[in-house]
Amino acid sequence: AAAAEDVTPQLRHDVTSIGVVGTGTMASGIVQVFAQAGYDVTYVGRSQDKLDGVIAYITKNLDRAVAKGKLDEDGKASVLDRLTGSTEREALGGVDVVVEAIAEDLEIKRELFRDLDRIAKPGAILATTTSSLSIADLAAQTGRPGDVVGIHFFNPAPVMKLVEIVSADTTSPEVAETAKALSLNVGKHPVSCGDRAGFIVNALLFPYLNDAIRLHENGGGSLEEIDTAIKENAKLPMGPFELLDVVGNDVSLAIQQTLVGAFGHDGWAPAPTLEKLVADGQLGRKTKAGFHTY
Ligand code: CAA
Repeated sequence: AAAAEDVTPQLRHDVTSIGVVGTGTMASGIVQVFAQAGYDVTYVGRSQDKLDGVIAYITKNLDRAVAKGKLDEDGKASVLDRLTGSTEREALGGVDVVVEAIAEDLEIKRELFRDLDRIAKPGAILATTTSSLSIADLAAQTGRPGDVVGIHFFNPAPVMKLVEIVSADTTSPEVAETAKALSLNVGKHPVSCGDRAGFIVNALLFPYLNDAIRLHENGGGSLEEIDTAIKENAKLPMGPFELLDVVGNDVSLAIQQTLVGAFGHDGWAPAPTLEKLVADGQLGRKTKAGFHTY
């Protein structure tokens, strides 16, 4: 039964240049992944400040690799040389693959896909790294739904090997196969999954993370006790509150709301503490305060 899966996916499109839309944690990590694998990357953000933030994120990671002796200064310079930032989406007109990593909000992503349909060259692959929104919905915003696919990276993108390749019914098999081959080329482990809210990982992970918050709210343990129990005994690399702070509480709230909307299970409503932290702007590591402070 495994035989079909053993066939190495092939690039069915010529892919040399990548476009990334967004300047947040995921977008910055994705830019780094492609540039480190040798692709020219054009990344688009809303301001020069935000573009500078992408360079700062990548430079910090490359400096850490240099300090550990895993990369030399020439290697660092060549990664940075492959990057072109722009505040204009039109800069994406020539790229072979666009990966969008903007806010986890359906209306904002719909508007972007309508724009990408206008801007991207014919045959370009239009990918989203949405964590839980419908690929079919985004594809339907374009006149080329066959070219739209999910390439869902995990946080931190430069480290996490897993990538979920999400096909809607409309996604062309060649596009999904190219997305898979491209992921392998950048050192990731792709898995194929269906266009169902939360795909594989988040559909399983977020009910657990939300339950952990409720457990704490209901007196089940301190943040530290619950984090430690999960790390030490369940042998996960991070406890639930450490992980929520890495993912970002705003992103986590959006994912949990999507899961509730899609499946409507009792008890899945976002935990009150998650909603409060987001309302207070305590989004996790990126704001230096979330469940823990940094
Ligand atoms: N960016 C780039 N590299 C990073 C990094 C970051 N933010 N954080 C750590 N690293 C690198 C380090 O440089 C180091 O690299 P080398 O091995 O090449 O030296 C390596 O990762 C290990 O780092 P550390 O030794 O400092 O720390 P660690 O062993 O504690 O590992 C971790 C850090 C990899 C983040 C680990 O704690 C971990 O795996 N945590 C769980 C992360 C996880 O589950 N992510 C998925 C979240 S769900 C999601 O993302 C889905 C969604 O849609 C929201």
